[in-house]
Amino acid sequence: MSALEDAYQSAQTLNLKVKGVLITNPSNPLGTTMTREELNHLITFAIAKNIHIISDEVFAGTVFDSPGFISIMEAAMDRRLENENPDLWNRIHIVYSLSKDLGLPGFRVGMIYSNNETVVSAATRMSSFGLVSSQTQYLLSNMLANKKFTSKYMKENQKRLKRKREMLVSGLRTSGMECLKSNAGLFCWVDMRHLLSSNSFEAETKLWKTILCEVGLNMTAGESCHCSEPGWFRVCFASMSQATLQIAMRRLRDFSERSSCSGRIGNKISSQQQNMSSLRRKLLSNWVHKLSSSECDEQHR
Ligand SMILES: Cc1ncc(COP(=O)(O)O)c(C=O)c1O
Repeated sequence: MSALEDAYQSAQTLNLKVKGVLITNPSNPLGTTMTREELNHLITFAIAKNIHIISDEVFAGTVFDSPGFISIMEAAMDRRLENENPDLWNRIHIVYSLSKDLGLPGFRVGMIYSNNETVVSAATRMSSFGLVSSQTQYLLSNMLANKKFTSKYMKENQKRLKRKREMLVSGLRTSGMECLKSNAGLFCWVDMRHLLSSNSFEAETKLWKTILCEVGLNMTAGESCHCSEPGWFRVCFASMSQATLQIAMRRLRDFSERSSCSGRIGNKISSQQQNMSSLRRKLLSNWVHKLSSSECDEQHR
């Protein structure tokens, strides 16, 4: 609650009129779900400030562990907002898509769920700029109408996500890296603060580049997710095969051991390591190479 209030006050200081609060539940990048208490705080806050709540629930179906997922709409229903505070009831909106839960980002199917007629009407008009093809609609309506398939799919998906996450967490732990406890999402929030050459975002970027160029793994640096503390990285695990995940774990373990032998990442690397790293760079797949080449060249200058 105090974080919300602080953000609200700093917007006021900047002379910005706050119209709403956006949340991502389950969280990307943390992979955590909001509790009923947190959702209730949010509702109380939105009532007090007379603002909208937009809840991005695109990862709702990836919750693989307790506590379960609670939608903002469920929390609003529990508070009987429809009757007791119809104003806020009309200011709560959910956005969702099939990209994450069904692994169908290429289908470009998303939706808005709102009790606000103006929002629904505007979204309906806007939808003509991003129409979903008849073939896609036909396929999806058949697929989603099959309750046996959908419930089996969701269960299996959650089971596999949980297993993959456990593999990642235990693999990283053997390399001395801990993950934030999470129960959802396609990624883990990994603590790599001990690998930083200094407690700064410059050191975080340096570490990200080193891992990209030397280890061949592309992770998301915390700064790009607006993390306030340097040294946290988002590691996506869901689309990797078990074998690839094991290779990634082994490379990270080697890297972590090398780093603790040679001191922090900022130190100059030996010529043997340089040879190894240029060999590794040659082995990087094309897309990583394209992405990393300018960064790697800059680093090796
Ligand atoms: C929290 C969140 N919401 C929405 C999206 C958008 O997904 P898409 O445009 O594929 O539907 C993403 C994609 O990464 C996301 O992480």
